[in-house]
Formats: sequence, C-alpha cells, structure tokens
Amino acid sequence: MYSIDILLIEHDNILRFTNVIENICVKIIEGEILDINIFKKAVIFMKEYADNYHHKKEENILFKYMLENLGSIAKNLISSGMLVEHDLARLHILEIENSIISYEKNFNTKDKLSIISNMMAYVYLIRRHIEKENKLVYTYAEKNLNKDILDKIDLESEKIEKINKEKNNCLKYLDIIDMLEKLY
Ligand SMILES: [Fe+2]
Ligand SMILES: [Fe+2]
Repeated sequence: MYSIDILLIEHDNILRFTNVIENICVKIIEGEILDINIFKKAVIFMKEYADNYHHKKEENILFKYMLENLGSIAKNLISSGMLVEHDLARLHILEIENSIISYEKNFNTKDKLSIISNMMAYVYLIRRHIEKENKLVYTYAEKNLNKDILDKIDLESEKIEKINKEKNNCLKYLDIIDMLEKLY
C-alpha cells in the first residue's frame, strides 16, 4: 500500500538516525568532546522530520482513519499507545533543546548528562515505537480498513508527498543523516 510504504521508508531513515546518534553518544561517554552543533542538527531532524513530517502524517491521516473506523482496538492501539509515545518523544526533544541552551551558557556537566540521557531515552523509545508500528499497527490497519478508506488514505498521502517533493522538504533532513554518518 502506497502510504504505508512511504511511512516504512521514513521509519528506515529515522532508524538510521537513531544508530548514528547512538554512536555519537557512545563516543562522548568514552571521552570525546560534546559538539553542540551536532546535537542542534539532531534536534532539527527529530523535530522537523521525525515529528513534524512523519508523526504528524500518521496522526493526520492513517491514525485518524483508524480511530474513526476501527473501534476500541484502534483506540487502545492509537490513543493509548502510539499518540502517548509521540508525546513522550516530544518531551525528550524539549528536554534536549533546553539542556543545549543551558549547556551553551555554562558548560555544566549536568546539562551534558541531560542531553545524552534524553537523547538515548528518545532513541530507545523511538526504536520500540517503530517496531510496534511496523509489526502491529500498520499491518492491523491494512488488514482491517476497507478498500474505500485505504484508497482515501493513499490519496491524501499522495497529495502531501507531492507538496513535500515540490518543496524539496525531505531532502535537507536526509542530508543531516548523511552528514552525521560520514563523521561517525
Ligand atoms: Fe508513530
Ligand atoms: Fe512511525
């Protein structure tokens, strides 16, 4: 299915990000200097690609139709599961942003610890989240939504993809992963 294939590709990109940012955190723990600019780029990727681009698309299209059409199982899966995890991911991003601002002022080790620990909490959360969506949530949607609804989801996703392609929206975020992978 077109829209789910697109979401799966985005998951692969987000997982690439989690792997490279984990390598960066490991190197810092081993004694390498924390380069604040790397974490600023990471925040851009997490906020604008993983959240604004990917999570928002799930929330506004696929999850919306699942909630409207699949009853209490979807409510449990989406409202009490996936959406709670999206919010938790946003909380970690906010903590990282605040700690970056504070670290730049005083180079406090507590802020450094907060940047690394929130980043790794985000990494572990988002990996588990993606696994659940790939193996359970998307599969459930494809099996249980009727063809008319699946077509609507594809149509809405195609429209968004077209706008994003015209704006070249996605490429700059993938450049961040490429750049980080070259360095680490
Ligand atoms: Fe999600
Ligand atoms: Fe997702």
